[in-house]
Amino acid sequence: MIVSLIVAMDEAGGISLDGRLPWRLSSDLQRFKALTMGHHLVMGRKTFDSIGRPLPGRTTIIVTRQLNYHPAGCLVANSLEIALELARGGGESEVFVIGGGEIYAQSLPCADRIYLTCVHTRVAADTFFPAFDPSEWEAVQVVESPVGEKDQFPYTFTVMQRR
Ligand SMILES: NC(=O)c1ccc[n+]([C@@H]2O[C@H](COP(=O)([O-])OP(=O)(O)OC[C@H]3O[C@@H](n4cnc5c(N)ncnc54)[C@H](OP(=O)(O)O)[C@@H]3O)[C@@H](O)[C@H]2O)c1
Repeated sequence: MIVSLIVAMDEAGGISLDGRLPWRLSSDLQRFKALTMGHHLVMGRKTFDSIGRPLPGRTTIIVTRQLNYHPAGCLVANSLEIALELARGGGESEVFVIGGGEIYAQSLPCADRIYLTCVHTRVAADTFFPAFDPSEWEAVQVVESPVGEKDQFPYTFTVMQRR
């Protein structure tokens, strides 16, 4: 099973402010939907709270330390390792770790691939993607996206594979 992280961050690694995405990027959300459709998604409990519902067409696995947390339509795991085992046990070929900051930091060491949207701006942020060593990763796809009709900023979408 491939472990993929998928993230949108600004040029300083910022990913959110006050529990919300600090930008509006409709075309990137559409790509997120297309890439993740049909797959297992692993997310931290705070990220699930910010989304508020399981995403249709995908299996939502929430990582939490709480023992009595069971939102409808979701699987719950009390560790990242258990979450990945649930995906593997479900016959997954590529699991998507979709954040947030705590879960990215814990899953980066075991990630095989990163789908990275770098938003060309610097926003106020209180949550960040962890620093990573670019020399450990090879860019296998790079797409420059100009500001689309429903996009607030230009961005670069890069698929990175661990060397
Ligand atoms: N820009 C992007 O691409 C992007 C993507 C995803 C999320 N985000 C943003 O990121 C923010 C949330 O990030 P965050 O770092 O604050 O929180 P998070 O990583 O989403 O969730 C943290 C929570 O996960 C649980 N957790 C973490 N490690 C665990 C472990 N080892 N075992 C069991 N449970 C564990 C805990 O839940 P309990 O407290 O319930 O125990 C913890 O409070 C949101 O604002 C969201 O909008 C941005």
